Amino acid sequence: MKSINLDITKAAQFLSEDAVKAYEPKVKVAQEALEAGTCPGNDFLGWLHLPSSITPAFLDEVQAVANTLREKCEVVVVAGIGGSYLGARAVIEALGNSFAWLINDKKNPTIMFAGNNIGEDYLFELTEYLKDKKFGVINISKSGTTTETALTFRLLKKQCEAQMGKEVAKDVIVAVTDAKKGAARTCADKEGYKSFIIPDNVGGRFSVLTPVGLLPIACAGFDIKALVQGAADMEKATGKDVPFEQNLAAQYAAVRNGLYNEAGKKIEIMVNFQPKLHFIAEWWKQLYGESEGKDGKGIFPASCDFTTDLHSMGQWIQDGERSIFETVISVEQPNKKLLFPHDNENLDGLNFLEGKRVDEVNKMAELGTRLAHVDGGVPNIRISVPELNEYYIGQLIYFFEIACGISGNVLGVNPFNQPGVEAYKKNMFALLNKPGYEAESKAIQERLAQEA
Ligand code: PA5
Repeated sequence: MKSINLDITKAAQFLSEDAVKAYEPKVKVAQEALEAGTCPGNDFLGWLHLPSSITPAFLDEVQAVANTLREKCEVVVVAGIGGSYLGARAVIEALGNSFAWLINDKKNPTIMFAGNNIGEDYLFELTEYLKDKKFGVINISKSGTTTETALTFRLLKKQCEAQMGKEVAKDVIVAVTDAKKGAARTCADKEGYKSFIIPDNVGGRFSVLTPVGLLPIACAGFDIKALVQGAADMEKATGKDVPFEQNLAAQYAAVRNGLYNEAGKKIEIMVNFQPKLHFIAEWWKQLYGESEGKDGKGIFPASCDFTTDLHSMGQWIQDGERSIFETVISVEQPNKKLLFPHDNENLDGLNFLEGKRVDEVNKMAELGTRLAHVDGGVPNIRISVPELNEYYIGQLIYFFEIACGISGNVLGVNPFNQPGVEAYKKNMFALLNKPGYEAESKAIQERLAQEA
C-alpha cells in the first residue's frame, strides 16, 4: 500500500544547513513526553493511539446507526461547531461529489452542516429548506452546552418531531456527546435517542476519528473502516521509534518550527490545488491554530485554494512581506478523467493543450507556482497524497494530528487546551444577561458606557 509523502527540501533550503536535523533532540523529547503522558495537557492524549485501538465491532455499531439514518432520511443535518464538525465536513467534502448538494442521489442522504454560526437568515433558510424533507439530526457537542449548536438543535428537534412524529424522530436524532454531563446528554437520555460518547481524553479538534467524525462520514456513504485503517497505518509510521529522517510527522514538526524560529516565518498557508480539499484546510487551521496559538506564540495558520486564489492572493504571496511559508497538499491521481477539448476557432489560443488531461495542466500550474513562490522567498513544504480515498485521508488526518502534538510541544505550549476561546463567550453571555453572569454584565455595561 502506498503512503502520503512529505518533501521539505524546498523549505529546508531557507534554513542553515542541518537546521532541521538540529530539532531532532527536541522532537524526540516531545515524542517521548507524548508517549509517556508527561507533556502539558496530558489528560487529553486519547487521540494518540485511538486509530489502533478502534475495534471492528465498534465501527459496526457506528455503521448500524448510520444505516438507520441513511434508510430513513433524505437529509442528515450535522449540528456542531469547531472540532465537533470540521473533521467530518473535511472528509465528506474531500471524498464526495463536488455537487453533492445539488444531485438528487437516491443512494446517499444529503449531509448538511449547521450549528456552527448564529446567522438568523442561515437558520431561517435551513428550516425552510427542511420543510418538505425527511430529515434527521446528529447533535454533536462534547460540552453539550455550546450556544450555536444548542440553538440549532432546539430548532431542528422541534421541526423534526413536528414533521416526522415523535416516534420516528427518536430513530433519526442521534447525540454524540459526553458520557454523563451536558444538556445534549440529558436530552438524549430523556428522549431515548441513540447516542455515542466523546471520550473525556479526546479534545474537540482531535476527535474526527471518534463518532464525532465517523458517524457523519458513515452516513455520507464512506468507508470508515478504510479511513481508520489509514490512520492506524500512519500511527505506526510516525511512532516515536521511527528514525527522525523517515518520520514524516517529526520532519514536518521540525521544519515548521525551524522556519518560525530561525527564518521569521510566522504564517503557514495550507494550499490545495483541488477545491474538494478546502475543508481539510479549515480542519487543519483549527487543529494548529487552537493548539499552538497561545502564550504570545504560534504560527498563524492560513489557507488558500489554488489556482482560484492565485488570482486574488497570488500577488501578496509572491511579493508581499516575507513572513510566510506554504504547505501544499498535492493529489497525485485524480479519480476521474477529463481531457482538454479542441476548439475549431481556437480564439483563446489553447489548442496546444488539446488532448491533455486537465490534471496535467493543473500539475504544471502547481509546479510553476512552486518555482515562482520559492524564487520569491516563500519556503514550500509538499505533502503528496496518492489519491483521494478514505485510506489516504485517514493517513493525512493522523499525520497532521501527531505532527501537531509534537510541534506544539517543541514550541513550548500546551497543545491540548484552548483557554482563549472562552473570552468572547464570557462577554457574549454578560451582554445577553445570562443568569450567573450578573457581575460580568454590570462590568461590561459600565465599560461600554465609558467607551460610548
Ligand atoms: O476544539 C475544541 O475544543 C473546540 O473547537 C470545540 O470543538 C468547539 O468549541 C465545540 O465544542 P463542543 O463540542 O463542546 O460543543
